[in-house]
Amino acid sequence: MSSAYLQCIEESCQRRQDSKKDTYSCAFCGGALEVKYEFDPFDPEQLRHAWHQRRLSGEPIDRSGVWRFRELIPFIEPGARIISLSEGSTPLVGTRRTGWWAGPVHLTIKHQGNNPTGSFKDLGMTACITRAASRGVRMVACASTGNTSASMAAYAARAGMKALLFVPYRQISAAKLAQALDFGALVIEVGDTFDEAFKLLREIAPELGLYVVNSVNPFRIEGQKTIVAEMMEQRAWRPPDYIVVPGGNLGNASAVGKGLRELKEMGFIEKVPRVVVVQAAGANPFYQMLSTGSPELTPLQNPDTEATAIRIGHPANWKKAQRVLEWTGGFSECVTDEEIFEAKTMLAEDEVGCEPASAATVAGVRKLVRTGKLPWHADIVCVLTGNQLKDTEYI
Ligand code: F0G
Repeated sequence: MSSAYLQCIEESCQRRQDSKKDTYSCAFCGGALEVKYEFDPFDPEQLRHAWHQRRLSGEPIDRSGVWRFRELIPFIEPGARIISLSEGSTPLVGTRRTGWWAGPVHLTIKHQGNNPTGSFKDLGMTACITRAASRGVRMVACASTGNTSASMAAYAARAGMKALLFVPYRQISAAKLAQALDFGALVIEVGDTFDEAFKLLREIAPELGLYVVNSVNPFRIEGQKTIVAEMMEQRAWRPPDYIVVPGGNLGNASAVGKGLRELKEMGFIEKVPRVVVVQAAGANPFYQMLSTGSPELTPLQNPDTEATAIRIGHPANWKKAQRVLEWTGGFSECVTDEEIFEAKTMLAEDEVGCEPASAATVAGVRKLVRTGKLPWHADIVCVLTGNQLKDTEYI
């Protein structure tokens, strides 16, 4: 049987953690943690076939676009209760007009807004809440710019857990807040930014014994990484040249990179696409770190963008994301709110609705082609992270 354990990501440490409890930072050096596996021997061809066959099944575990790929995330006991809302199985949409406008490039959209709570967070949340349930957790908590909270509230409700949510005061969209309230989360508005709310949560979580489901929880990353398996399957296992994601707390970039690395190591793909992270110009600490060649990230005190989902000044997962860009030969870009608005308008003309943070990816592609950093006719997948109805005030 495959087995899983938590390991520190710091080069100088890399120590295995005590398997009895789920933690978010290394007990020895305080570094970030990731889930590692000793996989059973497998034949990639057979697994691909099994994953494909499961699409015909009516079983909830097979209908989920995350658990359909369960051999990639073997961190719970076989037969354990899966907390799923049929997440994943999102469309890969061709966008000829937007691709022409942004490039010309061959642009496809992986639309994560088609998830049960309307964002990519559901992939990570099914994994994380399932893990929490397997450990007997009764109460989960997160800080959020809105989507994580809506997702946590929904999955916690399904699992019969209480959900505690920290959001920055008057800074998240009404629609996202409404989702969390509707699913019965206890909402506390605290701090002026996501970073302040998250800092406070991290401080009090150990004392109150809260199980934190932000993307610092390594099991979130495990669920989110399955997006690349699904994307490759939809593309008949032919990787694109680039995968572009918006960057906020940088959990998604970390997950996409981990997924790609494992698929390559396991023999499912030959080539690894470059991962490109696009930030909003007013909330771009990761872009700034890379473009100035700084070894450390300098947090931004007052992140500012209308794309509220990615209004983050101190991304928790910057080290993981930095490694991903190194492994894949990727890079980062930033775009103004005006550029995001233009890209969102173009997508809508192409009949693709999304929330502003998601459109940052397409704005980034356009800018990168114009500045010669992306070649014409490149094969690019942009991950659109959230649904059109997530931020109607913006529209
Ligand atoms: N796009 C959307 C729609 C998001 O909600 C987020 C993050 C991101 C992109 C950035 O992803 O953090 O993995 O780099 N939203 C978090 C939240 C922070 O609380 O909902 P990331």
